[in-house]
Amino acid sequence: MPNRNKLHIAPFNVEKIRKDFPILSHFVNKKPLVYFDNGATTHKPQQVISRIQKFYTFENSNIHRGVHALSRQATDVFENARKTVQQFINAAHSHEIIFTSGTTESINLVASSFGKKFITSGDEILISEMEHHSNILPWQMLCKEKGAILKVIPVLENGELNIDICKTLFSEKTKLLSITHVSNTLGSINPVKEIITLAHKYNVPVLLDGAQSVPHLKIDVQDLDCDFFCFSAHKMYGPTGIGVLYGKKKWLNELPPYQTGGGTIKTVSFNETEYADLPLKFEAGTPHIAGVVGLEEAIQYIENIGIKNISAYENLLLLYATEQLKKIIGLKIIGEAEKKAGVISFIIEGTHPFDIGTILDQQGIAVRTGHHCTQPLMQKFGISGTVRVSLALYNTKEEVDFLISGIQKAVKMLL
Ligand code: ALA
Repeated sequence: MPNRNKLHIAPFNVEKIRKDFPILSHFVNKKPLVYFDNGATTHKPQQVISRIQKFYTFENSNIHRGVHALSRQATDVFENARKTVQQFINAAHSHEIIFTSGTTESINLVASSFGKKFITSGDEILISEMEHHSNILPWQMLCKEKGAILKVIPVLENGELNIDICKTLFSEKTKLLSITHVSNTLGSINPVKEIITLAHKYNVPVLLDGAQSVPHLKIDVQDLDCDFFCFSAHKMYGPTGIGVLYGKKKWLNELPPYQTGGGTIKTVSFNETEYADLPLKFEAGTPHIAGVVGLEEAIQYIENIGIKNISAYENLLLLYATEQLKKIIGLKIIGEAEKKAGVISFIIEGTHPFDIGTILDQQGIAVRTGHHCTQPLMQKFGISGTVRVSLALYNTKEEVDFLISGIQKAVKMLL
């Protein structure tokens, strides 16, 4: 690998950051790892790895249950992490933060609980054409169960939402809008504030899928005024199997539990159960305590660098990578929204994304290929899949150069 010339962003030191991620100094297919599959999951800095190890080594115990010292300590650690998450996304109350297994479970929780309480036959739920399957299937299933109707905001050719059509889709039957903040396939940053304001004019609550926005953008749920916000730790340098559902207190208080079990109750008899207050009502069973601790450490890691610095750096890298990719003959970028986060999907005339991905892998370059769990979006663009390059704070300009020469090699082999 040639020298890694960092892009020039003043207090951002990518070389120093890279040293925090042990896996980045490993070899894959006997080549230095060049990792551009951050939309699927990011790598973990040593700080997060060590924090999880510390929990299991010195602090392990179940929470909210024991009078003994370790259990009390683990409970404190867990509840402090909830406050850290609250501050990270600027929620008004820590009990508006529900720990789930990830974005998928967070969306399923809302679809199930909101659906039980508020959706009846003939109601309408709005989503968009660029949603991940995780933000389609729970609503599709709910609509089938309740006889409700799923309406879809279309995507324009450039990968932006068609806001003009969006405006026409609201009616008194619309009960909820669930859309992604940043598209995992196109990278489009949706104008969610504008859409939320519009939805609220019709008294429609809005769920934002923040899985792909939290690693790249400053999130302020009070400023956005979203009713629900979902994200996963593992896409923001934290562990897998842990995520967050933020919900406004007024909604979470209204919703029935999603799953029931230990930890969710005040009193139980065989005739009646009184459920616990927020947030415990939604956290059945022993949670992923070490995951929560790891998520807190990931938040601290991001905050030490500064999300605005991360955003600015990734944006320069995105612009550079886009410019270089466009020079490759036959390459077409799918998704050229004016506002994008660090995701570039592309196809190359006469080649299959899977073949490009396989040849890149032989060179130690990890990208994702396929439909990216957005088959309806692929159908919209009339393609079966793309090659997707998704950026993180540890990627470098030099890695982008290496990717470009890797793609050129692949094209030479395939055409
Ligand atoms: N949702 C993840 C992705 O887009 C897995 O790759």
